[in-house]
Order: sequence, then structure tokens, then C-alpha cells
Amino acid sequence: MIAAADINITKVERSKLSDINLTNLPFGKYFTDHMLEAEYENGEWKSVEIKPYQPLLLDPSVAALHYGQAIFEGIKAYKNPQGEAFIFRPYDNFKRFNISAERMQMPAVPEDIFMNGLRALIELDRNWIPNEEDHSLYIRPFMFSSDEMIGVRPSEKYKFLIILSPTGPYYNTPMRIYVEEKYVRAVSGGIGYAKAAGNYGAAMYATATAKKLGYDQVLWTDAFEHKYVQECGTMNVFFIIGNKAITPDLSSGTILAGVTRDSVMTVLKEMGLTVEERPLSILEAIDAYKSGELKEVFGTGTAATISLIKELKYKEFSMEFNPERCEVATEVKTRMNQIRYGIVPDSHGWMCKV
Ligand code: COI
Repeated sequence: MIAAADINITKVERSKLSDINLTNLPFGKYFTDHMLEAEYENGEWKSVEIKPYQPLLLDPSVAALHYGQAIFEGIKAYKNPQGEAFIFRPYDNFKRFNISAERMQMPAVPEDIFMNGLRALIELDRNWIPNEEDHSLYIRPFMFSSDEMIGVRPSEKYKFLIILSPTGPYYNTPMRIYVEEKYVRAVSGGIGYAKAAGNYGAAMYATATAKKLGYDQVLWTDAFEHKYVQECGTMNVFFIIGNKAITPDLSSGTILAGVTRDSVMTVLKEMGLTVEERPLSILEAIDAYKSGELKEVFGTGTAATISLIKELKYKEFSMEFNPERCEVATEVKTRMNQIRYGIVPDSHGWMCKV
């Protein structure tokens, strides 16, 4: 058991914070003063330390660079009006991290290292949590295989790290989305439900192709018929049809079980909508659009929170949505922000005090 007090901490001599303005921040560009690093070797985790943020020195043969045993998480910390720091649902991300680890044949990270490490690191760098609207401290835990050996097999050594980035919104403006029918993100039996680095690398070609056509992101569809909706870019996706909120279900293992997705489903139910988790075909969405029932489509994710979609392009057909009329997404976002920034009481037990 590693208590917060057992973590070896080396502090920076001078904080970089005075060099950075914590307003209008881009996503993921700046990093705080400290990072956590732990090593796995001979079947156990050891040497958990917090130290000044610094480059890693890696042998060129390090396994993750060749075969991609690499996973990560995204979590956010916020400050309430009294200046107290809270982390949004970190235990859910911790559980998902180890689900990803199992799928990638990597060791589980124990809860005490993940959670006590996270708290100790944020405690140290708490002044980096921005105050501005739509800003937060983005927390990036990640693990990669670190054997220095290029045989193809699960590594015997791993590194687990946590870095922190004071951050602004991921997508600033409503998005134009291209419904992808050629490339796929995930297939049943694959790693779509894991937060594995390779999922993101594999998505870049299709995304770049859609960008050349003038779109911001793709809406992924199933690998067999290219009909059933999966994720939108790096986000889960919701369709508001009449009084229903429909989001793809998790049963095929092709979709990430988003913590924001789960929170949004709770908030939507509190707003009086019926939430359906089920396969949703793009043809059903088009029919609902044509009959005027499909009112809004939006993406959800830790980095993105709630992102409005202003256009969905499927073959030659374009569905357009007026962002000013996306009332459901706007209300969900307001309610989620009120909880996250401590403006209303957290009746769900989502906010975890640092
Ligand atoms: C997140 O929402 O935290 C993500 O993982 C998306 C992305 C920045 C990779």
C-alpha cells in the first residue's frame, strides 16, 4: 500500500507559473511544475516519485515505441468559488484505465498509486488550476511498456506517469462533421473500448482527409455496414430526437465508456428526457431530421466536455443545426459546469476533494 506520505517528492526550485497567464489557454500546451513517475519491474510497482516536470530519457529500443503498448486517461480538476480543488469522477477513470491495461496485456496500476499519486500531485500544483470559464486542470495519467528489447511480446517493464496541463476548451466553435464510410475506428473484438494510444493514431488519416474536405472531425460508423454510429472524433455522441436522447450502446466493445457520457446521461434524465443507449443508424437519424424530429447532435468527452455540431454530412446529404437552437446541449453544459465549478451542490458524489 502506497500512502500519499510514502511518495518521494522533489519540488522545483522555482515555479514556472509566473511565466504563464492562466486565461484563454489552448488545450494541452502548457504543463505544470511537477509530474509523477512510477516503475513496474519484476512483477511489482516501485519507486513512485513526484519530481520536477522533465523529459524522459529512453533507450531507442523501448518497446512502446515499436509495438504500441500504451494507454492513457483524461481527467479534470476544478476550483470552486471558495478556491478549493476538486477532481471530477477520478475513480471512474481509474477503473477504465485498468480495463484498458488488461486489454493491452499491461499490469494494473494499484488504486493507491493512481489515486494517492494524483491527489499528492494536484495538491502540489493546485495553484495551476485556472479560474476562467471553460478552463480546468487537465490530468493525463498514462502508461507505456519500457522493455529495452524489440522482440514482439508483452513487456516486462512499464512506466506509469501523471502530467497536468492547465487548459482551455478543446473545440472552440460548433463543428462540421463528416460521416465516415471508408475508414473505421473500431470493430467488435478490437480495442475500441480501451483508451489505447493506437486508437488515436489510427484515426488521424481519416480525420485529416475529412479536414481537407472542410470538416472538423469524422463521425465513425460500424465496420460492416458503415451505418451504425459509433464515436465522433475523440468523443461520444448524442442525438436528440423528439424528447429522446439516443447514444450508441457499449455492448459491441467499439465505443469508449465515457465518464462524461455517463454523467450527461444522468443530467439528461434529470432534465426530463428519455435516454436510450442502443444501436443508432445514420439512416434513422436522416429520417428523423427530414421529419423535423432530430433537433440536435452533440459530442461529449473529458477534453471537449460538450461540443455542439452544426453540420453532419452523409454522402450527398447535409444535416444542419443552428447552434443557437441547441437548447438541450446548452442546458446540459450549464448544469455540468455548475456541478464542476461548485456553483450548485454535487448531489451525485462526482466531485472528489483533493
Ligand atoms: C479526453 O477527452 O480526455 C480525450 O481523451 C480526448 C483527447 C484529448 C485525446
